[in-house]
Amino acid sequence: MDDVLADPVDIGRHYDERTPIGEEFRGGQLHMWYWYDRDDDASLPEAVHRTTRKVTETLGLRPGEHVLDAGCGPGETAVYLAKEYGVRVTGVTVSGFEIGAARSKAEDAGVVDKVRFQYGDYMELPFPDGSFDAVLALESLQNAPDLGRVLKELFRVLRPGGRISFSDFSLESDAEPRRVERFMTTLKLPVLPTLSEWLAHTAAAGFAVEEYTQCGPRVFGMKAKYLETAMGRRDEIAEKFGETEIAEFSRLHRGFFAPRKDQIGYVIVAARKPRG
Ligand SMILES: C[S@@+](CC[C@H](N)C(=O)[O-])C[C@H]1O[C@@H](n2cnc3c(N)ncnc32)[C@H](O)[C@@H]1O
Repeated sequence: MDDVLADPVDIGRHYDERTPIGEEFRGGQLHMWYWYDRDDDASLPEAVHRTTRKVTETLGLRPGEHVLDAGCGPGETAVYLAKEYGVRVTGVTVSGFEIGAARSKAEDAGVVDKVRFQYGDYMELPFPDGSFDAVLALESLQNAPDLGRVLKELFRVLRPGGRISFSDFSLESDAEPRRVERFMTTLKLPVLPTLSEWLAHTAAAGFAVEEYTQCGPRVFGMKAKYLETAMGRRDEIAEKFGETEIAEFSRLHRGFFAPRKDQIGYVIVAARKPRG
């Protein structure tokens, strides 16, 4: 497979280009939706926020704790955590656009004393060992050039007893590999682990896995509902960003829809750094 970028500078550029329109569709967030079925009347931003809630509630956060949001996107999740749980959040991303967008969200929400955002590559974080009570990686490990190394780095910055939760795509069927390859190239995924590979990587980094879910049918399985909902807002968003930009955004994402809906799963994994 060609054209899969692993260099954080190129990944940053990838998100700089896609996040502005992507977050507009999803209410300031940049991850997948969760719809129970086709008749679910949650809006796209509501369905995306459900995923935020589902993943972050597995962290068991307590007021005053310090959370690392590794691959924080445009900041909506960090702001939500600060307001909902009273935690401090440090968000890192490799996208300059996202840092700017995240800082202005924190300002608008009045949580600048609790939330900060900075450039940071999760392969090599600028934080001492044991700096955080919890680590969140909401659909960000997918771009890791070396998943084992990133998980070890996240393990390092967690305190003993600290928790990690992440969510991401998984491979459910490679019966039609060309479809999966188009998906991976589009999203810049160097690898697409199965659920058991995700769990094995997590354990190999030293974590004790405590909970996991595979909810692909309610996530990627709802891709037709996403398309329909997004098309309903296309003209409004084209008016804001321009017809050329939205046409380019759609072109860049065509490969996302290539897999059959049962080929791509969605995993949520919660684990703990043993107390030693
Ligand atoms: C699909 S977006 C998800 C963003 C956010 N977690 C959310 O749910 O809205 C993936 C995120 O991972 C970040 N990312 C990718 N590679 C990274 C790296 N090497 N270090 C830090 N962040 C990275 C991107 O900058 C982007 O913010």
